[in-house]
Amino acid sequence: MGYFITFEGVEGCGKTTQIKLLSEFLVTRGMQTTLTREPGGCPIADKIRAILLDAENQALSPLSELMLYAAARAQHVTEVIAPALEAGKIVLCDRFCDATVAYQSFGRGIDRDVIDSLNLYACQGESPDLTVLVDCDPQLGLERARQRIEATSGPREERFELEALAFHQRVRAGYRQLAADEPDRFLIINGADTIEHIFDAISAQVVARIPEELRVVC
Ligand SMILES: Nc1ncnc2c1ncn2[C@@H]1O[C@H](COP(=O)(O)OP(=O)(O)O)[C@@H](O)[C@H]1O
Ligand SMILES: [Mg+2]
Repeated sequence: MGYFITFEGVEGCGKTTQIKLLSEFLVTRGMQTTLTREPGGCPIADKIRAILLDAENQALSPLSELMLYAAARAQHVTEVIAPALEAGKIVLCDRFCDATVAYQSFGRGIDRDVIDSLNLYACQGESPDLTVLVDCDPQLGLERARQRIEATSGPREERFELEALAFHQRVRAGYRQLAADEPDRFLIINGADTIEHIFDAISAQVVARIPEELRVVC
């Protein structure tokens, strides 16, 4: 079996920046790596992603939103995550189940038990070995995310960026609670630092946790 690493945190904390750097770092060292993301990660789930992140879908109900995340995840686990882990790869996933707990339970107030059972079902037995929580003040993250959205062409994936600051604060608190509940799985990194410092911290601590049989040092 491979090793499953997820990245979590509020909008603009630096997940995508850091997961790409980590993927390049591992690949350069000859490690078998699969880089993927949620929502999405395969063609069918990417279609669901477009619905979930489209800022025009303001009428999407919290329950529909939750079910769409679960549907996208079930497809992604089946098509990408489970086969890659089965093949012994290091899987790096930009957001996963913890995001659903942080956003849909802590953020939107949906019953945690419902979310936990849906996650369990959608994940089909797969669960992260290590979760990197890039923790930062949502105000800082949202400012960065806005700059990225303005600088990017294509569809504006900003339905969540348009939520109130209080929503993002609940999401951050949710993530911190999840990390406190499972300290062995979570690695908390200060996302307010520079890209270089954050990467140094992540690369050193993640590599140390990768099982020896998957770790290549050259
Ligand atoms: N530590 C950092 N300091 C300053 N800017 C950053 C930092 N990390 C990321 N950024 C920039 O902020 C924006 C959002 O980063 P991104 O990695 O896309 O965040 P996320 O995937 O968590 O939403 C990008 O334009 C990125 O270049
Ligand atoms: Mg991102």
